[in-house]
Amino acid sequence: MSDSDDDVPTLSAHTLAALHEFYEESQGKKNTCDVSTPADQFAVGAVEEDWGMSQFWYTDETATRLAEELLEQAGVEGRIACVSAPSVYQKLKQLGDNASVTVFEYDRRFAVYGDEFIFYDYNEPLGPAERGVAPRSFDVVLVDPPYLSEECLSKVARTVKYLTKGKVLLCTGGVMENVAKQLLNVNVCHFLPQHRRNLSNDFRCFVNYPSPLLSG
Ligand SMILES: C[S@@+](CC[C@H](N)C(=O)[O-])C[C@H]1O[C@@H](n2cnc3c(N)ncnc32)[C@H](O)[C@@H]1O
Repeated sequence: MSDSDDDVPTLSAHTLAALHEFYEESQGKKNTCDVSTPADQFAVGAVEEDWGMSQFWYTDETATRLAEELLEQAGVEGRIACVSAPSVYQKLKQLGDNASVTVFEYDRRFAVYGDEFIFYDYNEPLGPAERGVAPRSFDVVLVDPPYLSEECLSKVARTVKYLTKGKVLLCTGGVMENVAKQLLNVNVCHFLPQHRRNLSNDFRCFVNYPSPLLSG
């Protein structure tokens, strides 16, 4: 580089090539979403789990059962919110039921879903309102908080209460049962959700409405 003010600093062709290669590689690592075909795009697990974001995807069977439950509870033309539960959003789209679904997610890789993706950080419980989501917009809200703590569930509960017209389906550790009852008046279901990678902790579903599909 020259110290003259008139000269624009330049990089050698070799440095530029190395930078380009680094950029391509880091994009490849960041965007591990396989979107080669529409079917792949909505496959459960199309986006690799990032444990740093507490991501543990459901098995296909569990995502299917939860998606069926949401469709049943939302009814025809009902609106569904998947909060921190992207694999159920994917399954709903895969079922191709023309369901009206929004995915609220912290992981911006899911922004590939366009207008149906809304960035969500549980530390800002009313962030969805700031992003233009009207109160009580959804017939049913599914939520799977990233952490098993009262602090996290309290904040998430504020978001859920803002979004829902009434129905709530919460998936979280069994240890959260009492706190979940206090915050969202939900009761534990018989159905046991499973993850693609076995989790050691007892994981459960909770609802605040009668659910033959999850408790029958
Ligand atoms: C336990 S996983 C639930 C995923 C669900 N089992 C599924 O298969 O779709 C927690 C989710 O919370 C999201 N998450 C991580 N940090 C978050 C944050 N600060 N605010 C909101 N969601 C967050 C993760 O990206 C992940 O989707």
